Amino acid sequence: MSERMNTTVIFDGIRFPGFIHTLESLKAASAFQFQDKDVLLVTFPKSGTTWMQQVLSLIFCEGHLWPIHHLPNWARVPWIEQISFSQVFQELRSSWPRLFTSHLSAKVLAPALMKSKVKVVYMARNPKDTLVSFYHFHRIAGFMPDPSSFEDFVDEFLEGTGFFGSWFDHVKGWLGLQKDLNLLFVTYEELHQEPRRTIQKLSEFLEHPLRPEEEDVVLQHCSFSFMSQSNMVNYSVLSNEIMDQRKGKFLRKGVVGDWREHFTPELNKKFNAVYQSKMGDSGLCLPWTMD
Ligand code: A3P
Repeated sequence: MSERMNTTVIFDGIRFPGFIHTLESLKAASAFQFQDKDVLLVTFPKSGTTWMQQVLSLIFCEGHLWPIHHLPNWARVPWIEQISFSQVFQELRSSWPRLFTSHLSAKVLAPALMKSKVKVVYMARNPKDTLVSFYHFHRIAGFMPDPSSFEDFVDEFLEGTGFFGSWFDHVKGWLGLQKDLNLLFVTYEELHQEPRRTIQKLSEFLEHPLRPEEEDVVLQHCSFSFMSQSNMVNYSVLSNEIMDQRKGKFLRKGVVGDWREHFTPELNKKFNAVYQSKMGDSGLCLPWTMD
């Protein structure tokens, strides 16, 4: 077992799994030199990151599907804060704009981004579904602690003391920068409910318009059924030690509203009260109903 498997790195008050981050890799990300043509996907974990990595790669690959079939998502749209970044960065495809991913907070990345016109795609998901997906992820990922119980996991999520920090701060921080950055806000739910329209909205923002038949290719290859079978996005190339998909799949359900299967009425009430207190006066127009 890798000796970093159970380590934690704390950066800017937030805990990160030490298996894929070091203090150096996190610091390097915060000082990353972006270029105007870059595209940066930002998410809180389990908000549909892999899905959007697939969509972004498909939009830019212009029907040349070799990377979709042969390169893992983390090599096509790498996380700038992860240990592997320096290596992957050198091998990035030069024909595309540079596509990057990050889970870092707005506070950490804003100074580097403010200096450029980077196109930022911020993807978010109903926090209750995000939480449920994150809970199951903790159970299969060898580098994340096993959650003791769902109830405790909800408390940790509401307190923002878990890995990757507070969902509330993440969303408020990034959406609070909408006027300062070249940022498009996309939700998991809209990609789910209106995939073609959402892909059109994305391609317009990215200044990479698609013909209807190109949209068809994107739609086919970003479907849950295609992605579940593709070992370039379903993480099946990782060992059981890193991600044990005998316990549950990374592409688990891919639906909207699964939280209803997990939350008791009491937990739901507690969640809604915290959501209201943290988001109620944010002034943000968020598309979810909490009931
Ligand atoms: P579930 O656990 O609810 O199924 P991330 O990539 O940010 O870790 O997010 C993972 C979540 O996105 C998982 O949610 C996964 O199933 C879902 N997902 C990935 N690809 C998807 C797709 N093509 N359609 C719908 N959901 C998808």
